[in-house]
Amino acid sequence: MSQPVRFEHIDGVGVITFDNPPVNAMSIALRTAVRDALTEGLQDDAVEALVLTGGGRMFSAGADITEFGSGVSNQSPTLPDLIELIENSPKPVVAALHGNAMGGGCELGLGCHARVAAAGTKIGLPEVTLGLIPGAGGTQRMPRLVGVKAALDLIVTGRPIDAAKAHAGGLVDEIVPAGGDLVATAVAVARKFSDAGSPPPKTRDREDRLAEARDQPGLFDEYRKGIARRARGFEAPFACIDCIEAAVTKTFDEGLEFERETFQKLRASDQSKAQRHVFFAERLAGRVRGVGPDTKVIPIKRGAVLGCGTMGGGIAMNFANAGIPVTVTEGDQAALDRGIDLIRKNYAATVSKGRMSQDAMDQCMALINPTLDFDSVAEADIVIEAVFENMDLKKDIFTRLDSLCRPDAVMATNTSSLDVNEIAAVTSRPEQVVGLHFFSPANVMKLLEIVRGDRTSPEVLATALSLSKKLGRVGIVVGVCDSFAANRSLYAYSRQAGFLLEEGALPEQVDRVLLEFGFPMGPFAVGDLAGIDVGFKIRQHRPRPEGRYSDIADKLYEMGRYGQKTGKGWFHYEDGRTPIPDPEVTELIMRTSKELGIQRREISDEEILQRCMYPLINEGARILEEGIVERSSDMDLIWLYGYGFPRYRGGPMFWADLLGVDHVYGVMKEFHEVHHDWLEPAPLLERLAKEGGTFGGWSAE
Ligand code: COA
Ligand code: NAD
Repeated sequence: MSQPVRFEHIDGVGVITFDNPPVNAMSIALRTAVRDALTEGLQDDAVEALVLTGGGRMFSAGADITEFGSGVSNQSPTLPDLIELIENSPKPVVAALHGNAMGGGCELGLGCHARVAAAGTKIGLPEVTLGLIPGAGGTQRMPRLVGVKAALDLIVTGRPIDAAKAHAGGLVDEIVPAGGDLVATAVAVARKFSDAGSPPPKTRDREDRLAEARDQPGLFDEYRKGIARRARGFEAPFACIDCIEAAVTKTFDEGLEFERETFQKLRASDQSKAQRHVFFAERLAGRVRGVGPDTKVIPIKRGAVLGCGTMGGGIAMNFANAGIPVTVTEGDQAALDRGIDLIRKNYAATVSKGRMSQDAMDQCMALINPTLDFDSVAEADIVIEAVFENMDLKKDIFTRLDSLCRPDAVMATNTSSLDVNEIAAVTSRPEQVVGLHFFSPANVMKLLEIVRGDRTSPEVLATALSLSKKLGRVGIVVGVCDSFAANRSLYAYSRQAGFLLEEGALPEQVDRVLLEFGFPMGPFAVGDLAGIDVGFKIRQHRPRPEGRYSDIADKLYEMGRYGQKTGKGWFHYEDGRTPIPDPEVTELIMRTSKELGIQRREISDEEILQRCMYPLINEGARILEEGIVERSSDMDLIWLYGYGFPRYRGGPMFWADLLGVDHVYGVMKEFHEVHHDWLEPAPLLERLAKEGGTFGGWSAE
């Protein structure tokens, strides 16, 4: 095995270069090698100072996250051991940062006596995104270098800053412009320290930047209040604040100890396990059967969207936001004007909230080219069809596309339920056809289901994956089935919510339980937001599913209660958006139960959670076993990015693994015995339960 560090002498300075591709994660092997190299440098009289730098594309992505589950990250030398060695070194140690200096990589830099960074370097402490806090002194040293307020922003959001900002804030001592020699600059800085002959400055001894917070005792509570809504349910952001507060109220060593204890506790928590799972799930989702690093990606320089309704307009905005010119086509001028008007209104609302400049809006609008000329699709690298959900219409459109589009153009449909294979079959090139299922509102929602038809080519899939990144979406490849993976599993969840009303619950109770679980909204408030009329119209165009059917939503439609837009739906709304329980709805529900001959009963919160969530997991098991998704973590991402499943629970399938698949199976079996209908445990759920397996550990091979 190659050595994970290189050591060389430059001008009396020992330069230690990390060599642990791809991201110089601080694995036990790298930590040991760095410790040995530092010790060698400290003992060598020919070395007057040291420089730490990263080989390859970055300084370091920090602690090796794969070690957290096994306890290897606790093995000596730990990151705190290394940093202590550096900070207490009698010879100056300078960090030379480039690419990324994240997490433990950043903390290593904080322990050094100075930091030099290449322009553009991203520096940050993203541990909070993994359900952790920086555990190697970051919460104690960062505020000492940049001040408490800036440290709070960096550590609690986890968002990295670039070298220029880091330099302005005091985190970086010197910037090396593009084309400059980073290591040579760091060597010169190190030499300056050693030539001065005085002991190197230690970050731990700096107190000046803590003073501002010592004068404002309310600062931390203010900060807690400020993030309360955004961070609801998450443990780590609040733990970050506690530790930074400790930096102000305790001695450095006490603060370090408090940080360590907090870190260990969080590392063992389900929340951190879940968030680490999501980190790897996001990276795995890009690995798709048949698509490799060498698969050709078709360059997308121009898009075309057919239909400028609810979805088409939002999809066009995706392109414009990414700087890609896009043509939008409609059947007639009035519809086109309406669609473009809505796009303009959407942008204008963002501008008025101060989240976009007028200039940026104008640039986006200029990238959107409205036209009635269908033939203009011939110029596009990708066409996305978003006309009415009607198979005959879609077939007609794809027949026309087939005769007009360039041979290598991607032909995509935004259908939310129709058979992509049937659509592809009307063309002479089904390999160019793919489903691109955006979610509403398409300019906001992150999830993009990439629907792989039987004949979709690897190049088209690779292109769709690459495009989804450019558009800032999370692309998940799914197979063809009715409603695909997301809406199919959503239906399993929302259907039970309807039955619970008939059996004894009320919308406010169901919504409260799911809100407390961590969803941003309960299913009934979501229904009101999306529109009771929209749901009703979709149901009219679809065959009614077999078995039990709850028609309360249909009754609301008949009463003209369309949701937020009419001020009344499952709830009523006085300010337009805060749901208030409505006696009229309670009465409707009671009446419905009576008509159905159901004796209403008290339903526990636990049953509500299980009745909504376990059928969804059960459907997820079917989707997995049918090969509609490649792995269970894809199902997790679908729920995280499509429906706001709480990230700190990792996704429904991960959550099921934490609860124990046998437990979920046992409860589903009981549900099935009582309620029958759609609640039969999926074969995969049963098999895993009996074998003691997990969804995460299961693979189709
Ligand atoms: N530990 C272990 N593996 C890591 C890692 C870490 N800290 N950071 C990245 N990796 C792995 C990724 O899983 C990926 O593996 P894969 O190729 O097998 O999928 C590979 O390194 C490349 O990472 P990727 O994220 O695709 O590279 P990038 O260039 O897009 O992004 C970073 C680079 C550093 C911004 C990003 O990897 C990152 O944010 N890493 C985590 C940083 C962090 O949270 N550190 C604190 C740890 S407590
Ligand atoms: P919509 O009715 O708002 O928009 C459809 C638009 O297509 C209309 O403006 C119509 O004028 C236009 N159109 C019809 N025939 C046309 C033709 N021949 N040429 C050009 N334009 C034509 O519908 P929508 O909600 O935007 O749905 C569009 C597609 O997206 C459907 O397939 C739907 O299933 C899917 N979808 C909808 C949602 C959603 O939540 N609304 C979510 C995901 C996917």
